[in-house]
Amino acid sequence: MSIEYSYYTTKKDLDKEYLTSLQLRSISPKYRFIGKKQSQARIDMYSSNDSKYYINPKTFMDDVKTEISEYLAQNINVIALGSSNGNKDKILLEELTKTKQASFVAVEISKELASYTLSNMNDLDIHKEVFVSDLIPENLSLISESIRESHFKTHLFTILGNTFGNNPQELISETLRDSINSDDYVLIEVHLSPDRLTPKYIQKIINAYDNEVYNEQVMLSLGRVDISTEDGYLEVEFEHDKLFPEIDSIKHYFRFSKPKMIRFMGKDLYFAKDERILVNYSNKYKLNNFKDLLKSHGFSINKEFLDENKQFGIFLCKLR
Ligand SMILES: C[S@@+](CC[C@H](N)C(=O)[O-])C[C@H]1O[C@@H](n2cnc3c(N)ncnc32)[C@H](O)[C@@H]1O
Repeated sequence: MSIEYSYYTTKKDLDKEYLTSLQLRSISPKYRFIGKKQSQARIDMYSSNDSKYYINPKTFMDDVKTEISEYLAQNINVIALGSSNGNKDKILLEELTKTKQASFVAVEISKELASYTLSNMNDLDIHKEVFVSDLIPENLSLISESIRESHFKTHLFTILGNTFGNNPQELISETLRDSINSDDYVLIEVHLSPDRLTPKYIQKIINAYDNEVYNEQVMLSLGRVDISTEDGYLEVEFEHDKLFPEIDSIKHYFRFSKPKMIRFMGKDLYFAKDERILVNYSNKYKLNNFKDLLKSHGFSINKEFLDENKQFGIFLCKLR
């Protein structure tokens, strides 16, 4: 079967956005996946036995795939937004193709992870296509349209592994709303937080993030510039989002232990001793708040799936 690649995001776009993030002291979590070292670290982390936090969701998809399949049309394009290694989308596609015709499209900002997704799907004999692209409305609506013209009429967009909680949420919702029609489905997986927070829960979640493997990966988001652990250290905090106080968030900050000057894209940037840059965040949603959020963003929930520990939620949605 054919494989096609298209590039909708260039290195220049990424560098320009990165410069602005450095100036604003807030780097998007997506930068920890972009680049050779970064993507390899992600692949290694996912396959490592140490990162238990990341193993459950794979088996969770196994538990829910049959029920999801029952909702979907006979001919369907699965469009994975932020496919990464493609593991969970593959579990779903293997199920769908038992009874349906399917095609697979990955929309992924990291070209290295996009390639990895495809090699992972090698043994699936369906049409596969990759767009190296940011999740922005202009790109996704073009991708959606062109896939409908060349393949099936109906889409299932998947946004798995808390990619929703690693991006500005209104942007993701807007991107989706602009690209889907009333027959399409969206499958969103997010990390959940308990309604009542206990010190034990907070410590557990901090431990899942403040460890050597994860911190090394987070440091790679500074890999585009000359900032390393020689210049400072990471601080991991459990917070309520400043703009949406009902959302919990695990944040990684890099604190400078000495003054530092760097040059990037022709600009000099000065960092003072003790200054911090936000280098990663992962939002955790309380179940009812997340359902309200989906509604207020224009989606209706057809089915929700929760894992036994209520750590992960998968929501099958449509446009309202
Ligand atoms: C948290 S991982 C989740 C991966 C996978 N879906 C899973 O369930 O394991 C996020 C993936 O989405 C990609 N990604 C994150 N933000 C993105 C954006 N704004 N545009 C395109 N891809 C993005 C990253 O490169 C990474 O591969």
